[in-house]
Amino acid sequence: MSFNNLDTLYRQVIMDHYKNPRNRGSLEDESVTIDMNNPTCGDRIELHLQIKDGIVEDAKFEGEGCSISMSSASMMTQAIKGQQVDDAMNMSSIFSKMMLGEDVEDIDLDLGDIEALQGVSKFPARIKCATLAWKAMEKAVANEEQQ
Ligand code: FES
Repeated sequence: MSFNNLDTLYRQVIMDHYKNPRNRGSLEDESVTIDMNNPTCGDRIELHLQIKDGIVEDAKFEGEGCSISMSSASMMTQAIKGQQVDDAMNMSSIFSKMMLGEDVEDIDLDLGDIEALQGVSKFPARIKCATLAWKAMEKAVANEEQQ
């Protein structure tokens, strides 16, 4: 597939998650909720995670933001649901590397739709948009571990 076709495919994946967000909403008995905003624009995400026995049993999000931040939240919740907390954190560090433009081709975890966001690394102003949901997840896990 040519780079142009790949770009088009990635754009379509991002817009699909933006227009049809997965896991949007709240949880009735969530174990942890984190409110986080992007200080550069004020957009915000409220992330709800249900963590039990070291597993992310459920993940949902609310909030308002640009297509990158909301699609990233949709992809992130989809990716971490059902995962061990350690694997979710591992994905987060891989995603950070991806945003730094590092090559993440050789990793064991299946990133699924998240790969569509790799082009964001070329636009430094948008990296905070893409990492907002992941930072919220990291903070939620840290809070949960303190409880
Ligand atoms: Fe605000 Fe992207 S412009 S999160």
